[in-house]
Amino acid sequence: MTLEVVILAAGKGTRMRSELPKVLHPIGGQPMLFHVIDTARELGASKIHVVIGHGAEQVKSQVKAENIHWVVQHEQNGTGHAVTQVLPYLGADSTVLVLYGDVPLVRVETLQHLLANAADLGLLTASPADPSGYGRIIRDAENQITGIVEHKDAAPDQLAINEINTGILVSTAQRLQRWLPRLSANNVQGEYYLTDIVAMAAEDNLPITSAQPRALSEVEGINNRLQQANLERVYQQHMAQELMTAGVSLLDPCRIDVRGKIHTGHDVLIDVNTVFEGEVYLGNGVSIGPNCCIKNSSIGDGSEIKANSILEDTIVEKNCVVGPFARLRPGTHLADAAKIGNFVETKKAIIGAGSKVNHLSYIGDTTVGIGSNIGAGTITCNYDGVNKFQTEIGDAAFIGSNTSLVAPVKIGNHATVAAGSIITGDVSDAELGVGRARQRNISNWQRPLKKDL
Ligand code: UD1
Ligand code: CA
Repeated sequence: MTLEVVILAAGKGTRMRSELPKVLHPIGGQPMLFHVIDTARELGASKIHVVIGHGAEQVKSQVKAENIHWVVQHEQNGTGHAVTQVLPYLGADSTVLVLYGDVPLVRVETLQHLLANAADLGLLTASPADPSGYGRIIRDAENQITGIVEHKDAAPDQLAINEINTGILVSTAQRLQRWLPRLSANNVQGEYYLTDIVAMAAEDNLPITSAQPRALSEVEGINNRLQQANLERVYQQHMAQELMTAGVSLLDPCRIDVRGKIHTGHDVLIDVNTVFEGEVYLGNGVSIGPNCCIKNSSIGDGSEIKANSILEDTIVEKNCVVGPFARLRPGTHLADAAKIGNFVETKKAIIGAGSKVNHLSYIGDTTVGIGSNIGAGTITCNYDGVNKFQTEIGDAAFIGSNTSLVAPVKIGNHATVAAGSIITGDVSDAELGVGRARQRNISNWQRPLKKDL
């Protein structure tokens, strides 16, 4: 069977009240349309056609997915009209699955079930507590599906039906080629309804199968920000479940946000309120404290990220300790057992094995060797207002507290820098660098007296 997927995504999404086309609004940090495309790929679709209209250019450029056949529907004259735009491109013998760009959480298994049961036409239906707004599934005395009637076109007895059309359906290219040209817009909304092919199939005496999702959230669409927020929570629950199934301890599965992918080893522990973005790798025995933001980073076995730390494009190797309140900016690389403490900011910083930057420092455009200690309040002055310069610190160096290292500058192996120094020239191996005014003491110092006014 050759499967082609048609994703309808031309609608405006007025109720989002947004400049951004609806299908670009995110779920789990990715445009909702992206999730639908992902699902289509997982189903093994040989071609994915996405029908776009409102904000077509923006949708095309912002959904970074390869091998998509974009089809522009210039006027949105209904779901039937939308699928008709794709007819010229369908392979003659293909099975065609129609998905909605604004229904992002439908599961692959549900669609496989729908595909497995269907021959000429299969519908994904559901029975929500409140069916209003949806098309209703009409069945005959033998319980066979004979048609779909849209809410706005339904008679009172039809409105009482609670089995609804989710909009997701499967048919064949052959049948669609035959049925779609026969649609008319002779209905309350003056639109070409895709759902009218159901009655045509019944007239042709073809069996119409149906399948149901496991959860209603799979077929819920996003029309406003409330629905978006609700589905975001559903998505995050799924992510939390997946992590726990993979052996991760979440101290509260309701308080984690995954906006991307996490790869985890065993015995990972994640405290509350951490946001993961992009691609994140957590090795065995990693623990993440509360309130961290971790983006596109990799954390090695046995490392601990303490509360309120922010990591972006950072590599933390094994048995490191980071935070609390650390900010590791892009290009930070901590070798094994390195330590970054509170209120330390790093950027493009390579910190060697066992080296420590424990308190209140800025380390940027810097390499630090093995086993060095960077004292509290050390600042690498890497920027002259125009250009950036490198600081190189060797192995087993000791940088005293409150030092400014004015780059470009090199501090050698076993070198020491006295506290409070402003270092503008290199310090060689094993030397002491002192760059500060000498202390003098003045005896019998007379403190100022309060003036009588
Ligand atoms: C449609 C179904 C209805 C079903 C409901 C489920 C029809 C006629 N009705 O109704 O039975 O219960 O979905 O949510 O199919 N779109 C286009 N081009 C168009 C029109 C729509 O791409 O010309 C896209 C929209 O962007 C959206 C999807 O198709 O993603 C559904 O369109 P929408 O207008 O929301 O359909 P409903 O009237 O809700
Ligand atoms: Ca809708």
